[in-house]
Amino acid sequence: MKKDIAIAIDGPAAAGKSTVAKIVAKKLAYVYIDTGAMYRALTYKALHNELDLEDEESLVQLLLKTDISFDHSDDSQIVLLDGQDVTRDIRSQNVTSQVSIVAKHKKVREEMVNRQKKLAQNRRVVMDGRDIGTHVIPDAEVKVFLIATVEERAMRRHKENIDKGFPSDIEQLKKEIEKRDQLDSEREASPLVKAWDAIEIDTTSLSIEQVAEKIFLLASEI
Ligand code: CDP
Ligand code: CDP
Repeated sequence: MKKDIAIAIDGPAAAGKSTVAKIVAKKLAYVYIDTGAMYRALTYKALHNELDLEDEESLVQLLLKTDISFDHSDDSQIVLLDGQDVTRDIRSQNVTSQVSIVAKHKKVREEMVNRQKKLAQNRRVVMDGRDIGTHVIPDAEVKVFLIATVEERAMRRHKENIDKGFPSDIEQLKKEIEKRDQLDSEREASPLVKAWDAIEIDTTSLSIEQVAEKIFLLASEI
């Protein structure tokens, strides 16, 4: 790698984006930015304020007076909503099942994308989401689109739940993932779609390390 670059990682839910993005960022000493956490943080605040999630204007107004930032001081990433640590809260079932409703609004996306572009302006970032390669960093030097079968993705989330001691039902997880993928892929504003120049990696039968290595190799070629 002869220069500072940006790495864009997109794909559907539980394809392994954040896990491998963190590994690649660490290896390159780059910053990892989880754009999904930004939509989740807004959803969390909107639910807390009892907003109607179909009301685009109220959501934009709320977003404009909301600060969402990341603290990368130790090894893990902390998500701060108006200065408060919401890292765990934004992963709740309630937020997960409704975040795609918030994320479908064009004006919400415009504001989020502006903020994300600023975070990526100095390169040296690994950013993951749904529209990074298509809208946020369309000129990213490395673009990958991770996929895996829905069965495998549901199984991955199931294992996470079991490890955390949470109740878990694979069939239910599968339905939720399919529903979210559908909402994300079918919305009008920057839908989940592979950028024409992104490299697709099917992670179904790959380990986390194998996927991270593939992305690292792509970066090394720049
Ligand atoms: O980690 P997981 O795949 O469960 O989801 P996430 O990356 O935290 O994203 C949560 C939701 O935010 C997605 O289902 C999308 O609705 C939305 N999102 C988006 O629209 N655009 C992005 N760049 C990132 C997330
Ligand atoms: O960010 P995204 O929703 O795309 O997925 P993730 O949260 O990074 O990964 C979901 C789960 O799948 C995590 O528990 C990973 O450890 C696991 N995983 C895996 O088993 N094999 C891979 N190749 C990638 C992720």
